[in-house]
Amino acid sequence: MKTLLQIQSSLFTSGGQSSALSREFVDAWTAENPGARVIRRDLAADPVPHLTAERFQAFLAKPETRTPEQQAIAGYSDALIAELQAADVIVIGLPMYNFGLPSTLKAYFDHIARAGITFRYTEKGPQGLVNGKKVYVFAARGGLYAGTPLDTQTAYVRDFLRFLGLDDVEFVYAEGLAMGDARKADALQAASLAIRRIAAQGVEALAEAA
Ligand SMILES: Cc1cc2nc3c(=O)[nH]c(=O)nc-3n(C[C@H](O)[C@H](O)[C@H](O)COP(=O)(O)O)c2cc1C
Repeated sequence: MKTLLQIQSSLFTSGGQSSALSREFVDAWTAENPGARVIRRDLAADPVPHLTAERFQAFLAKPETRTPEQQAIAGYSDALIAELQAADVIVIGLPMYNFGLPSTLKAYFDHIARAGITFRYTEKGPQGLVNGKKVYVFAARGGLYAGTPLDTQTAYVRDFLRFLGLDDVEFVYAEGLAMGDARKADALQAASLAIRRIAAQGVEALAEAA
């Protein structure tokens, strides 16, 4: 049975454009995978705490030496990682806020980057330990940035995911959403077309891999 993890990070929760695009993809994907399990994580409704020295120390402490508080902190991070590892397909709703990613998504990233668990360093450099998954990112922006030097968000998200071993990542953009109704409608329509195309492709690829 296939598992899809849907992570949404719009501050408007399910009402965000990135959430709506993600949902459109997940609906198309589940229609093609009727028995599949979908895990939903809404980072606005259920925020991951900011990483603090206390939390980071809990990650670093050896399991047998952790205090009960440290066990709870590490256990919470372990559960997020277990969810990630259980997924065959990962869907990320990615709004652009003030040129970056939502701080809620950064806090989530800070809890899934764990030395020895999701990555490790070797003599050849870092090695990601979360492998064999397909990631789809649905990016919503008010302006136009994709493919320009101002789009540091895409590079950051791609680099971070690759660091964990997630190197099969596809982005779908809906841009210019604050640039008038016509432009917004065109952008959402183009994103919908892309979603239907990749949902169909994804099903074929998964069928081949099965
Ligand atoms: C607080 C805030 C900051 C924003 N900053 C940017 C920005 O830097 N660049 C941009 O293109 N759009 C910006 N926007 C517009 C959002 O990218 C746009 O509304 C998009 O739909 C957000 O995704 P969401 O609807 O899934 O939340 C911002 C919107 C908000 C609410």
